[in-house]
Amino acid sequence: MIGLDIGSYSIKAISLAVSGSRLILDNFLYLPTPSESYVDGTIVLTDIIADNIRSNWRKSFKSNKVVLSVAPQHATLKQLWVDVSSGAPLEETVKWDLEKFLPLPVEEMVINFQPLSQEENQVEVLAGASPRHQIESLIRTCKQAKLVPLAIEVPYLSLFRLFLATEKPLEKHSAFFIIDMGASQTMLLFVAEGVLTFLRTIPIAGNSFTQAIARGLNLKFEEAESLKLTKASLKLEEISEEPYSFVYRALEPVLKELVQELQRSIDFYQSRSSSSLEIKILLSGGGCQVPGFPDFLSRALGMDVVNWKPLKGFIEEEISGFSEAISSLNLAAGLALKGVERNVIGDLFSKVGISLIS
Ligand SMILES: Nc1ncnc2c1ncn2[C@@H]1O[C@H](COP(=O)(O)OP(=O)(O)OP(=O)(O)O)[C@@H](O)[C@H]1O
Ligand SMILES: [Mg+2]
Repeated sequence: MIGLDIGSYSIKAISLAVSGSRLILDNFLYLPTPSESYVDGTIVLTDIIADNIRSNWRKSFKSNKVVLSVAPQHATLKQLWVDVSSGAPLEETVKWDLEKFLPLPVEEMVINFQPLSQEENQVEVLAGASPRHQIESLIRTCKQAKLVPLAIEVPYLSLFRLFLATEKPLEKHSAFFIIDMGASQTMLLFVAEGVLTFLRTIPIAGNSFTQAIARGLNLKFEEAESLKLTKASLKLEEISEEPYSFVYRALEPVLKELVQELQRSIDFYQSRSSSSLEIKILLSGGGCQVPGFPDFLSRALGMDVVNWKPLKGFIEEEISGFSEAISSLNLAAGLALKGVERNVIGDLFSKVGISLIS
């Protein structure tokens, strides 16, 4: 199975292989998303995206079986205890209990769930949902790109799966805060002692940085984007030096807003969890690639922050273009892991994986 992650900035795909008990990179694909074709987590120009994928696919992959995810802003994931004493089918009960968390009426949503545990008349379930038109749009795009979608997931779980497969999540006293920043959205996940305890998506991401530069320096978005890629730096030794300092000054308001949002999530998480585990922050996604970003966040939040590059361990020798794309490939790798046998990455793996298609 190949993990396919269609984003607003880039389209990423990755296939993994297993060698003994090790995961290795089989191949990957990284394409810029054609402009205007994907807006607010939604594919708006199906033909253009599908043709782009189809014309590049065979260079990297033999298989056409893919696992995808909906965009985080269109994904709902909830852990619920539902009362089954009425004898109604569990599926129906989950639907009605989930309804209050959904953006649309249940009939317009695709919902799936997995039972986690049971105590007398209460069943604990993990339920995922996304608007039906989002799922249909992904299926349509795959069809047109000559791909077969085997599963469509909620992206939080796919990232979590990569985390479980590559870190030592069960170590006692370990808490992780995964920040996956793309162009338009940032996913936040707290994992405490191997349990996914809190998740959220915020709209501050790579585009917010570009917009801040455009606003501050009176530039067009495209001009600001290319300035960001070459002259944005958060390294202490550079932020007071030209040409970095004027880009930095333009970024300051959005950086402040981002830090406040992250701090709010950390405070919320800490107020709900009884233990005071030391949190390590893992940065993922293209938006986190501003030079000096980990140290900047570490200073601002007073926490240990690193660039999370678990896929480094998947390659034996350098593959052209891989190290440039590596930070953006985490979600695609988490999706690809759906096809990997449980015994390679442990039993915990079997606990995650709700697909919104069957
Ligand atoms: N070296 C860099 N410095 C600063 N920003 C960067 C760098 N490289 C990429 N980015 C930013 O990363 C973002 C793209 O990241 P990514 O490819 O992970 O997004 P995406 O998955 O397509 O977006 P989304 O999931 O939000 O739809 C863009 O905003 C881009 O400007
Ligand atoms: Mg993304």
